[in-house]
Amino acid sequence: MQNDLKTKVIPNGGIMKEKKNVFDFAAQVGLTKQLGGLKTTDELIALCYIDSSCEVLDVGCGVGVTPCYLAKKIGCTVVGVDILDGMIEWSKKQAERQGVTNRTTFRVADAQELPFEDNRFDAVITESVTSLMKDQPKALQEYVRVTKPGGHVGMNESTWLKSSPPPEVVAWWSVEYGGTPQFHTAEDWVRLMKSAGLKQVTDKTYNISFSSGFTDLVNRYGLWEMLKVYGRMFSLYRRSPEYREFLGNVKESGRMPEGTMEYFGYGIYVGQK
Ligand SMILES: C[S@@+](CC[C@H](N)C(=O)[O-])C[C@H]1O[C@@H](n2cnc3c(N)ncnc32)[C@H](O)[C@@H]1O
Repeated sequence: MQNDLKTKVIPNGGIMKEKKNVFDFAAQVGLTKQLGGLKTTDELIALCYIDSSCEVLDVGCGVGVTPCYLAKKIGCTVVGVDILDGMIEWSKKQAERQGVTNRTTFRVADAQELPFEDNRFDAVITESVTSLMKDQPKALQEYVRVTKPGGHVGMNESTWLKSSPPPEVVAWWSVEYGGTPQFHTAEDWVRLMKSAGLKQVTDKTYNISFSSGFTDLVNRYGLWEMLKVYGRMFSLYRRSPEYREFLGNVKESGRMPEGTMEYFGYGIYVGQK
């Protein structure tokens, strides 16, 4: 499993190339998250008109939960890409566990340089990924390029619910991610999607519900798998000084600044090519 991003050869890897961050560790323990759980994925499925006849691309698929969910629930075929090969390894295992290897394929790729021909997919979806891109307009252009005319691009993205978030709130999220994500207001996400060539862009924003965070994870992974993830986290903590350092930094950054949740949330954005 490849986890040292400094050695990755993929160009333009967004924040993923600069230093070890939360996703390197996530790729070791086999856990990735989006915001809102399966109900936001269901919303993307509906708004992107995904049915069993579709071929779907999931950009930044993490450990492969959404591609396998789509393949199993809807019966469509899904290609998942992620910049970390550790994520792709987990995704393949996930597809085996879920019995959907015949409808899913996974490969390492950079969202900003997708290795697919123009107009290939009926829908492109992406959950909690585009904020991480160094070149977000380029990533969006890539999503649109590989979508068929008339097909849909759907994003679930971290969103500033109010403009001009206080600097301490922005800084706190950067430590949490171990990088420099660029979140936007809904208005700005919509503008970016339209600039990439999408029409009829719809948006809907949500506050984060901490009370449903664990339930969302259990619904996505199952309780048994979550217990295994915690076991792997504990084992990584014991053997990896870098992981201990990362968690130390998160702890040092202190409690979430007051009022953070007035500013930070997520949005569902869908447009048509
Ligand atoms: C917050 S996780 C979300 C994962 C997944 N969508 C999910 O719902 O579980 C972000 C994912 O984006 C991937 N990623 C970050 N930069 C990327 C890039 N430039 N191209 C492709 N994937 C990227 C990370 O490796 C990570 O798996």
